[in-house]
Amino acid sequence: MCGIVGYIGTQTASEILLSGLEKLEYRGYDSAGVATVHDGQLQCVRAKGKLHHLRDKLEGLENPAQLGIGHTRWATHGKPEEHNAHPHMDNHQRVAVVQNGIIENYRELRAELQERGHQFRSDTDTETIPHTIAEILTQLDGSDRTNAALQATSPLLEAVRQAVNRLEGAFAIAVISADHPDELIVARQQAPLVIGFGQGEFFCASDTPAIVSHTRAVLALENGEIARLTPLGVEIYNFAGDRLRKSPRLLNLNPLLVEKQGFRHFMLKEIYEQPGVIRTCLEAYFNNDWQAGDHEQPPVTLDIPPELYADLEQIEILACGTSWHAGLVGKYLLEQLAGIPTNVQYASEFRYAPSPLRPNVMMVGISQSGETADTLAALATEQQRRNGLDPAYHARLVGITNRPESSLGHLVPHLIDTHAGIEIGVAATKTFLAQLMAFYALALDLGYRRKALTEARIEEIIAGLRQLPAQIEMLLSSQDGAIEELAHEFVETQDFIFIGRGINFPIALEGALKLKEISYIHAEGYPAGEMKHGPIALLDSKVPVVAIAMPGTVYEKVISNAQEAKARDSRIVGVTSLNGKHATDVFDTLLPVPVVDELISPILSVIPLQLLAYHIAARRGLDVDQPRNLAKSVTVE
Ligand code: F6R
Repeated sequence: MCGIVGYIGTQTASEILLSGLEKLEYRGYDSAGVATVHDGQLQCVRAKGKLHHLRDKLEGLENPAQLGIGHTRWATHGKPEEHNAHPHMDNHQRVAVVQNGIIENYRELRAELQERGHQFRSDTDTETIPHTIAEILTQLDGSDRTNAALQATSPLLEAVRQAVNRLEGAFAIAVISADHPDELIVARQQAPLVIGFGQGEFFCASDTPAIVSHTRAVLALENGEIARLTPLGVEIYNFAGDRLRKSPRLLNLNPLLVEKQGFRHFMLKEIYEQPGVIRTCLEAYFNNDWQAGDHEQPPVTLDIPPELYADLEQIEILACGTSWHAGLVGKYLLEQLAGIPTNVQYASEFRYAPSPLRPNVMMVGISQSGETADTLAALATEQQRRNGLDPAYHARLVGITNRPESSLGHLVPHLIDTHAGIEIGVAATKTFLAQLMAFYALALDLGYRRKALTEARIEEIIAGLRQLPAQIEMLLSSQDGAIEELAHEFVETQDFIFIGRGINFPIALEGALKLKEISYIHAEGYPAGEMKHGPIALLDSKVPVVAIAMPGTVYEKVISNAQEAKARDSRIVGVTSLNGKHATDVFDTLLPVPVVDELISPILSVIPLQLLAYHIAARRGLDVDQPRNLAKSVTVE
């Protein structure tokens, strides 16, 4: 949510900043801007809307500056207008700041600064920061609050250090000053910030894709850290001003993942990457020898220490959005395969109304970005409230993410890497499938260790999972064209209902979410059996119903529920692998998927729904990868 970049070195900064912002646009695209320092002057250029508006403005502007910061915004405080775009500057236009996050005490800061004569030009919380830094810079006097050593090293660093100590909230900032042309100062408090190390040049960014084409040597700042980047190197301090010794690590990110590689949209490319993602998960999570008959070692190879499972009485899953849907599938698996009572909570709700404390509970946080503020805060809150209690009550925290280097990765002691790699399309697709795979592994691991499953059943399920990559490839090659054709028929549709039961109820929710977020068509997902308790009143010939009817315990039930919808004149689209009389009688349109065990079916049944949402949105001419009002990484509450 908001992307920031910074550069200091020997190349032209503005081009590096723009290309970095392009890679971060998934984090927000309400406005963009860059500020650079050259010849003792700050130049700041900003534009409302997507990045290409900023690029147009910068075209033809001679700007040889080798120091600069840039920002792409997801509006929180103040409308998405140019005057609210970052960077923001102080009264005298000597200090420029970009920020990702929210400054919670900005009202008080703003009122105090205004009283002292500062004039504000935006409605943002961020603008308080350059004013504060500029004021401190003029007052640095070796007083009690001043760290004299830091001030001697760099007054700008010391001013930023004092300023961040006055800020409340979650933020990552990058600061430059016309009076300090050889320095770029960055700070982090609960919003991501990475530093890239080049040869005589250094970068900072909210996320690694912005810098990976320049350097693979990166260092993620931790909360409460501040860094000074100069052409000579990087110094890191804590907010108290103590110097810290840290080294960069080499990043393992394939730059191709952040290119479209011939696909029209990232979302479509990422849908097509799913067989590969499942293959990687299978390789990472399951023991090949076990499958070959050697049962010496457990079937699942997750890095979760067995003591985490000891005396386990309950699992609490915390997540948001699509990750929450993955959690619902996870609950089904954990309860049905491992017999462990499991709750799935919206992280944003759990934070302020946590479940009563119980002993021997494992908390599982899921986040594809690893940066979702609500999920991180819910986990941290839980960790804190269990501190100091009897050991049985200690927080057993596990994270599930495809970004192990993220804040979630730092927060939790045990991580399941979902190996999906970075996802650029705002609508989650491959990361969702990978999260499901993590839950299959976790549930089978627990089921095995708790002896809730026979070895034969474990073998059967893993064998089924191993078929998935080929089945998904087949589904994509046989269905993509047909679903694109079908999408044409729904371009004008205004409401959709998705229904499913059992393990496929969360897939109905996910199908509806995919459609609404990228096509702006109103869509709701329901447990099929609930339709008759109210929502059925919505149905008529203008409201199509997508029914997920995978063979298994609830197949006949879903067919009956679809029949009830058909009797209200709804057009019924069926996602099923049975093509028998029942299905053809009730479904007006069939989206066939390969035959699989019901327990595995969500991994296949969600794919036609991803394609349907994608093709309807693309057909409507919408910006599939960057839908309005959304951002890939939601780092505000
Ligand atoms: C929908 C989508 C969002 C995210 C949600 C949580 O396609 O992507 O609903 O799932 O914002 O994000 P993460 O998983 O990064 O915590």
